[in-house]
Amino acid sequence: MEKSNYAGQIGRTYARVNALPDKICARATMVKMLDPLRGTQVLELASGDGWFSDVILDAQHITCIDVDEYQLAQGRKKRSLVPRTFVQANMFDASLPHADRVLGPWIANYAPNEEEMSHFFARVGAVMPSGGIIGLVIDMPTSATIDRPLWGSRKTVQTGDMTTSGPMIVERYDPKTKEVLATIPTNYHPMGTIERVLEQVGFATSQVAPLVHTQYFRENHPKFAYSYEKERDLQFLRAVKR
Ligand SMILES: C[S@@+](CC[C@H](N)C(=O)[O-])C[C@H]1O[C@@H](n2cnc3c(N)ncnc32)[C@H](O)[C@@H]1O
Repeated sequence: MEKSNYAGQIGRTYARVNALPDKICARATMVKMLDPLRGTQVLELASGDGWFSDVILDAQHITCIDVDEYQLAQGRKKRSLVPRTFVQANMFDASLPHADRVLGPWIANYAPNEEEMSHFFARVGAVMPSGGIIGLVIDMPTSATIDRPLWGSRKTVQTGDMTTSGPMIVERYDPKTKEVLATIPTNYHPMGTIERVLEQVGFATSQVAPLVHTQYFRENHPKFAYSYEKERDLQFLRAVKR
């Protein structure tokens, strides 16, 4: 069964995407969604080099799972604030450790269809206690092709249809030079599909507003702070295990 259409490595220029304001905002919003983290066992899925969990200060332990050995090796080299283990596995069939909190940057988008998404979130839920939280960052363009030059994000839903799930190409590029930093084959799912799947496998979901109106963005990325909410191509979903 095709569990993911992700084919291989993200590429070495991907790390430069971390400097783009929407990604910084996504990480801050992720930490907000998972609050409180103190003393928890944390699982980061499709972690890459663990950039999202780099800023977690007071969990007990973090497990990062990714398929890409290059990204994992970069992660292992970092000095982390919390004991952290990097595991190479396909998250769609790996055995998962107990997790009070799950960082899920773009994980819903890697499921190729609703059935795989449902199996996947049921398996994630099976290692979580009641009250455990998944924080989801989701690629969610508002039309079949969108381009956001301010933060270098181009998304193309290949079916052209926003009412059904289908393959999507996400390109991240340098806003100044237009150099493409990563081309990511992934999938679009309507928000209602993701919410329904999570509810069916035992989670209560709520959409979360991004942490964009902060002094950091007003001072460092003022145009972004002003326009992001009107042009947003990401959604944030907090899923709490019942
Ligand atoms: C766009 S990158 C994001 C990496 C990291 N979350 C970040 O934001 O810096 C997507 C990551 O998902 C990983 N990935 C894709 N499909 C996966 C799967 N089935 N199991 C585990 N990792 C997967 C890729 O190897 C890649 O590192």
